[in-house]
Amino acid sequence: KTAFVNGEFLPLENARVSVLDRGFLFSDSVYEVVPFYAGRGFRLNAHLERLERSLALLRIVNPYERTRWHEIIAELIEANGGGDLALYIQVTRGAPERRDHRIPEDIEPTVVAFCQSRAPVDPAVLEQGIAAITHEDTRWRYCTIKSTSLLANVLAADDARSRGASEALMVRDGAVQEGTSSNVFAVIDRRLVTPALRDTILPGITRAAVLELAERDVIDHAEIETLSPAALRSASEIWVTSSIREIFPVTTLDGETVGTGKPGPVWTRMQTALQAMAHD
Ligand code: PDD
Repeated sequence: KTAFVNGEFLPLENARVSVLDRGFLFSDSVYEVVPFYAGRGFRLNAHLERLERSLALLRIVNPYERTRWHEIIAELIEANGGGDLALYIQVTRGAPERRDHRIPEDIEPTVVAFCQSRAPVDPAVLEQGIAAITHEDTRWRYCTIKSTSLLANVLAADDARSRGASEALMVRDGAVQEGTSSNVFAVIDRRLVTPALRDTILPGITRAAVLELAERDVIDHAEIETLSPAALRSASEIWVTSSIREIFPVTTLDGETVGTGKPGPVWTRMQTALQAMAHD
């Protein structure tokens, strides 16, 4: 496996960053995860645009022009054999000479990228769906920044695991926001809904693709201000979406059956449409 660190391609096991790196010390860094299908990135430019926005919000200068990003990524994908991969990119503020909270001037960002295999989704998941729980949203309020400061997400995901579930849906001010590493959709009264974008929701690339497909295929849909846990409990279908999970049907919420307890008809339609789009 080949990784990329600060301009250099090298074996993943030899990839290193400094212990003084602010990504390590302060989670002063941002990341992206891009799915590749048969060696081709799905909406790579949208991911690079979001990376640019995350960097700008943290006042980190994007280390590379778009064309350079494309070159690096193409070389890395090829070095890792192409195929179905998940590309991970992280840009940190860099490694200064001493630990200090204040942002130093004249600091060079650290850039790390590597690939992981993107195993095909377990057929049992698509057959039976997954379990999710609702969870207090303990995250900070700048969730549009795809930062590596993910402790609240990690702990909530672990709470889900300890309750036999595979995703936790964050509830803040009486409204469901998103999952620990996914966006959320529901079919309520025959309409596909998802929480409207705000500070506490990452603008997911998969979310945007699903909304486009709903528009194209004339599926009644809406981005709503408040998705209450009670409304979610009344849904006939719930899904979580991400670059890794694509669209997972949620068939149990807090131990209660969702809809018929099986992935629903709107999900089946959307899953087919998204697969076609990703493999196009
Ligand atoms: N996470 N919301 C959060 C909090 C996320 O971490 C993610 C993705 C999403 C979905 O975004 P997208 O569709 O662009 O992948 C929503 C990535 C996959 C991760 O942390 O591994």
